[in-house]
Amino acid sequence: MLTPGWLPRQPRDKRLRRASIAGSTSALVVPVTNMAALYSTDSPVILTHPSMRSVALKAYAKVNLGLAVIGRRGDGFHELRTVYQSISLADQVRVTVESGARGVRLECSGIPVPTGRDNLAVRAAEALMKECRLTGRVLISLRKRIPPGSGLGGASSNAAAVIRAVLHLSGKAIPAATRLQIAAGLGSDVPFFLYGGTALGVGRGEEIYPLAEQRRRWCVVVFPGVSISTPEAYRRLRVPLLTSHRADHNIELFCGSINQSEWKRLGNDFERVVFDIVPQLRKIKKALLSCGAAPASLSGSGSAVFGMFDDKEAAAQAAQRLSGAGHEVFLTRTVSRRECQGQLPGAVVNKASSRRA
Ligand code: C5P
Repeated sequence: MLTPGWLPRQPRDKRLRRASIAGSTSALVVPVTNMAALYSTDSPVILTHPSMRSVALKAYAKVNLGLAVIGRRGDGFHELRTVYQSISLADQVRVTVESGARGVRLECSGIPVPTGRDNLAVRAAEALMKECRLTGRVLISLRKRIPPGSGLGGASSNAAAVIRAVLHLSGKAIPAATRLQIAAGLGSDVPFFLYGGTALGVGRGEEIYPLAEQRRRWCVVVFPGVSISTPEAYRRLRVPLLTSHRADHNIELFCGSINQSEWKRLGNDFERVVFDIVPQLRKIKKALLSCGAAPASLSGSGSAVFGMFDDKEAAAQAAQRLSGAGHEVFLTRTVSRRECQGQLPGAVVNKASSRRA
């Protein structure tokens, strides 16, 4: 039997019963050649049908403005200090719940990814359904643009988007602590994606402290076309390779470092091992720095390298210069927490659903 929370209330106005679709779905990240699309906005969509409700939202990628690996922990994970920043490169995640069937199904377009339980988005839906005792079927349609194995958090962002969408569609409210616990159980950076924007991550990266919104900056992301396995990158960070600037592991210092003038305090400890695995990354970082990026860094455990710019033109020129040579280059901008969070309230496009939201 369906939990009543899934079922849409029927609108009185017959016109509202028709499935309605509004808004375009163009992504905010664009090929360098299509600057105009940077300013396009897409309204998430909700369909109304007696047995089906659907919502679409963007699952933004992240970069790590800094990432210090403090040490190996007893549980096999590593203790981190990191500053996450959402960027406009995004996957599109549509979640549909249907009565009359059961389970979770994922279909994917764009970059191919696993569609079974290997996919965090599937596990996120299952975990939520279990926690909220929901039945029915969840269909996840993923339009994948964030390269897997790039350190941009695509899979984690998809999982967080599914958590938010399923909660929204079911009308269920669960305590924030439970939501965070489910997210952390899926992966260390999934909790960040429930918030987005700029945030400090400590512990294994799952303990999130939202930081003050930063001014908008431009972010050039270069994906070298090879993926890095995160567990393998951690394995290669043998103890002697852990960060040596221990005085900098004071959290206040670390957070203070996101002021542009102190970028040098930040840095990414994975660069030491990952730049040896993919030597071209060192060159890409140098090129970004020479184009005026501040900072330029590996994201997460790689393989993507990014450069931050205040000036859009400078970012566009850097993107142009770095494109080609087998790299995939994305010209993106930073995305605020407000923008990440603002998606779901705006997802409702008909009165029937508005009343339920
Ligand atoms: O948490 P997540 O599933 O993203 O982690 C993937 C792998 O990365 C873990 O299994 C672990 O090997 C490594 N990891 C770690 N320390 C962290 C985060 C991840 O050792 N803080």
